[in-house]
Amino acid sequence: MSVPQRGSVAGTAPWWARPDLHYREGRLHFAGHDVAALAGESDGPLFLYSLARVEANLDRVIAALAETGCASTVYYAMKANRFAPLLERLSGSGKCGVDICSPGELDQALACGFAPGQISFTGTGVTPRDLERLLVHPELTINCDTMGMIRRIGERTPGREIGIRVNPGRGTGYGDAEKLTYAGGRTTKFGIYCEQWGEALALARQYGLTIASLHFHVGCGYLTDQLETWNLAVAEAFRFLDEAPQVRTVNVGGGLGLPHRPGDSPLDLERWAAILRRHFAGRDLRIAVEPGDYIAKDAGMLVLPVTDVERKRDTRFVFVGGGFNLHPEPAFYDLPCEPAPCLLRGDGAASAERVTVAGNINEALDIWAADTLLPPVEEGDFIAFLNAGGYGSAMSSNHCMRGTFTERAL
Ligand SMILES: Cc1ncc(COP(=O)(O)O)c(C=O)c1O
Repeated sequence: MSVPQRGSVAGTAPWWARPDLHYREGRLHFAGHDVAALAGESDGPLFLYSLARVEANLDRVIAALAETGCASTVYYAMKANRFAPLLERLSGSGKCGVDICSPGELDQALACGFAPGQISFTGTGVTPRDLERLLVHPELTINCDTMGMIRRIGERTPGREIGIRVNPGRGTGYGDAEKLTYAGGRTTKFGIYCEQWGEALALARQYGLTIASLHFHVGCGYLTDQLETWNLAVAEAFRFLDEAPQVRTVNVGGGLGLPHRPGDSPLDLERWAAILRRHFAGRDLRIAVEPGDYIAKDAGMLVLPVTDVERKRDTRFVFVGGGFNLHPEPAFYDLPCEPAPCLLRGDGAASAERVTVAGNINEALDIWAADTLLPPVEEGDFIAFLNAGGYGSAMSSNHCMRGTFTERAL
């Protein structure tokens, strides 16, 4: 994938502009609101989420699944964003279930209106205490990630239906990045590999467990360029079905990506659905999919105040009042995070300068964007960090005791 310069080109709309996110008279507007005005009303870091965008993203996935001709279920992966109003909007829509990975997420899903039968659990490092909390709900789908988990469920609830997460040994992620690939050449902690499949089936049989679903999630952020590899991963995963005739649902995981850089095109959902149609054709199987980022990420932004703009040696720094701890994913996974000034000064993009945008955490990696083109900003302005709706607040920490923020649904 090419990595073009970041920042917008003079005289054109920024690459990320869309009807609900754009500059109007030099001011950034999101979901019909003036972002700087909202930030001015708030004290400290502010996450803004467009619930309409969340639902529109979900609708796009549902429409693509309809093209497969198969029965399907979307489970929103709430690890991406568990803000209650967002979850309530989704549960209230009645259009999706929810994917969870911990008992805490189970409590939040139930509190936000999802019924146990609409919830699918896939997690690792599941303790006996975790299992006790999950197994209270017989309607919950539980996908086992280890042999031990199959055995522990068998011991506690023999005869139950379970799912098994498999690792097809192939995967992909944004820009083919290894860090974002959960199943591939490198052995990962996720899922049961084909070498242990026979043993897993025998263990399930021993306890009378019915393997009702097969699950795989092979990476995060894949775009159209990665679809061919994703197709191969799906094909590998389907080989597990040969010996598991009881399976009624195949959960193909999440990982559907969205553009992060100017050269990225949106994921071609038609091609994605065509891959599913091909694999599921002629089989009496329900498709389940559990996207997180695709639903939440571009529906949110993090807005931070500019504290200082000054040169240090050869670098012009823009400091902001919030650090990577509020939205750690870009630093952890080397993902870009687009800074957009909330107010365009001067000629806007035409007078963009090369700057490094730095946060307020005492860590050398606390850099939002290095050597990027940014329209001029001044102390007291606000910068919106785009695509912060997924794995932002949900992954945030209180490092340096700077973990406080406000979240607002628009
Ligand atoms: C099992 C599982 N399902 C779904 C997701 C959601 O992934 P994404 O947000 O990339 O769609 C993840 C993310 O790590 C995951 O581990």
